[in-house]
Amino acid sequence: RPTITGKVPDHLLRVSDLAPATLAELLDLAAAMKREPLGWQRELRGGAIGCLFEKPSTRTRVSLATAAHRLGMTAVVLNRDEMQLGHGETVADTARVLSSYLDAVTVRTFDHATVERLAEAATIPVVNALSNPHHPCQSLADLLALREHFGTLAGLTAAFLGDGTSNTCNSFLAACAATGMHLTIASPADYPTDPDLLGEARELMAQTGGSVTLTTEPHDAVRTAQAVYAEVWVPMDKPHERAERAARLAPYRVDEALLARAPREAVALHCLPAVRGEEITSEVLDGPRSLVWNQAANRLPTAQALLHTLITTNRQRTA
Ligand code: CP
Repeated sequence: RPTITGKVPDHLLRVSDLAPATLAELLDLAAAMKREPLGWQRELRGGAIGCLFEKPSTRTRVSLATAAHRLGMTAVVLNRDEMQLGHGETVADTARVLSSYLDAVTVRTFDHATVERLAEAATIPVVNALSNPHHPCQSLADLLALREHFGTLAGLTAAFLGDGTSNTCNSFLAACAATGMHLTIASPADYPTDPDLLGEARELMAQTGGSVTLTTEPHDAVRTAQAVYAEVWVPMDKPHERAERAARLAPYRVDEALLARAPREAVALHCLPAVRGEEITSEVLDGPRSLVWNQAANRLPTAQALLHTLITTNRQRTA
């Protein structure tokens, strides 16, 4: 059975919390858990996680809850408005109390500072289930899907098309940096990737052998890409920007014509939910080059590996 020998963080708030070696071991563990989902039930039996979601979610919430169940734990779904948190109790006080009931808390929120405040006050692992700038759980599944398909990650070429400011893009950039992948981000000049995150990624890439290139040209980006990542045009918290974003991001739609410019082996990625016909067409999403459904399926074993690793490590540290 794969074991984690690398440094394990107290929490997972961003992909960069995981050292490259730990990330690789986590993917090994996730692959083993995918093969034998109920093989890790003993250690954490009787435990519990909280799923505190302030935004809608299908994949993240269900995969985390199911992962907990497969590890012998229960999952308590927490709606902010039904908690005292939504009626004036502080994040810090909430974290302190939840730490005495639960083994981990997963949180989907808007402001990343909320996740950070929760982590500061909690004595149990906090997992960022999506904040405005980061979506680390998604990246773990992306990497597992790519590794299953191509056999390796180091040296792989990928293109991310669309909103360069999105949490999926930010986290995928960090994931490419940690694994030595070559990423091209093609986005309109109005939606540029955060220079600080680019700097962090480039620093790590100097060690891992990866690279990141920026362009506004989708055709250039896919020319050598083995994986083409389509991104939703309108994030959950910006419905009012729909018309403007649709106009700006239309050239970045991943359709068969665009994919035809990529190498023959290229696959299509999308974190879902997709708006069919906007950022990706049904022909691509449901076509033979789509890795999307395996990406979504891999949310479960990667969530399982992550929860197991963070919780067992925390228990050892606090025993
Ligand atoms: N990809 C993703 O995070 O999906 P959900 O919003 O359904 O959780």
